[in-house]
Amino acid sequence: MKIEELLERARTRLNLAVVYAGNKTDPGIVIHPQKNSRDWKSYKLVAENIAQTLEHEGFSGVAVLAEGRDLAAELARLKIDLVWLNTGGVQGIDPMAHAPSLLEMLGIPYVGHSPLSASLLDNKHVFKSMCLAAALPTARFTVIPPEYEEIDPTDSERFRATFGNYPGPFVVKPVTGRASKNVHFVESADRLKAAVDKVCQQTGHLCLVEEFLPGDEFAISVMGPLIRQAGKFSTLTDAFAFSAVQRVFEPLEKIFTSMDEKPITHERIRILDGQHDRDVVDRMGRLAREVFGYFNLDSLVRLDMRRAANGDLFLLEANPKPDLRRPTDTIASITCSALDHHGLSYQDLIMSIFAERLVQLTQISRGESPISSKLVESAAPLAVAT
Ligand SMILES: Nc1ncnc2c1ncn2[C@@H]1O[C@H](COP(=O)(O)OP(=O)(O)O)[C@@H](O)[C@H]1O
Ligand SMILES: [Mg+2]
Repeated sequence: MKIEELLERARTRLNLAVVYAGNKTDPGIVIHPQKNSRDWKSYKLVAENIAQTLEHEGFSGVAVLAEGRDLAAELARLKIDLVWLNTGGVQGIDPMAHAPSLLEMLGIPYVGHSPLSASLLDNKHVFKSMCLAAALPTARFTVIPPEYEEIDPTDSERFRATFGNYPGPFVVKPVTGRASKNVHFVESADRLKAAVDKVCQQTGHLCLVEEFLPGDEFAISVMGPLIRQAGKFSTLTDAFAFSAVQRVFEPLEKIFTSMDEKPITHERIRILDGQHDRDVVDRMGRLAREVFGYFNLDSLVRLDMRRAANGDLFLLEANPKPDLRRPTDTIASITCSALDHHGLSYQDLIMSIFAERLVQLTQISRGESPISSKLVESAAPLAVAT
């Protein structure tokens, strides 16, 4: 079957919803409000961008729903077949995994990462530990629990084993964060405690202390090999690494300022040139594909990277839900910034992500997928051609 035919069946047979993060202070979202270990954002605007794009592509009545206590009932009431997760969770620990966990339990397929992948990517210390195990480059770090109390965070065997005589500077940040929220530059070890205190109080969760990398900063996105370019699908030989950019810093800016405080305008990112910047683009692409393969990923992530003083490139983090805002004349989205260099429009990207999941759901037999029985008549695995 051709991928277009599969999509046509999906258009006429599936009810879709895009889910954003409900606000714990709104009535009917949670039972007991808790601390947010990960800085909260609703992501509703981007959820609407995704829903509108799917409707533009011929899907009708795409619902936009808040993650919260009534989500399961709403999905049942609207007879939703497939959910696009555009949420970082509502509250609590490992919030990025809450919505995929709920959908796994309900038996509703989704676009997004599994609970395990979402958690291990969103927990920077787990991601970095796995990188170290796979000899993928990442800055040395240690983790401090929130109950470390009054003890000096530098006064431990583990801290000494990690940093030895390294005097700083350091970066102190939550293990699960977003958009540079609660990220601190700390010049020297004797100033660490104040920053660690702040992060622990803010999040009630683990705090990461990391060597500061003083060099240039970059980002690249990576997804599976099925992509749509100018409306036409094809399958690449490897994962698709795209939109390699450098973040443009202002003088004296050490930590990239949060997009909540300073929106990411087109001047804040420099799209890397395949010729002029070939070495770094190749290196970033290789790292991105290695991460995609090693972590057994099956959907989009964006990797943040930064250079050490000697120019070596290190992985800062992998974002399991990169910003997919439809770019405007003024506001950029890092993942969408260089799509045209790869022959994709914003619609092409959304449909590539969607089609990839649809094909996975009709091919992989994780038990009988409720989707495959709607889209495919025969019990045999579907061979989808591009
Ligand atoms: N080890 C580091 N060295 C230098 N800068 C860092 C380091 N870790 C984080 N930063 C800065 O802080 C920003 C946010 O950190 P990051 O790890 O990407 O988390 P998040 O984007 O989830 O807040 C980065 O974009 C970078 O500017
Ligand atoms: Mg980041």
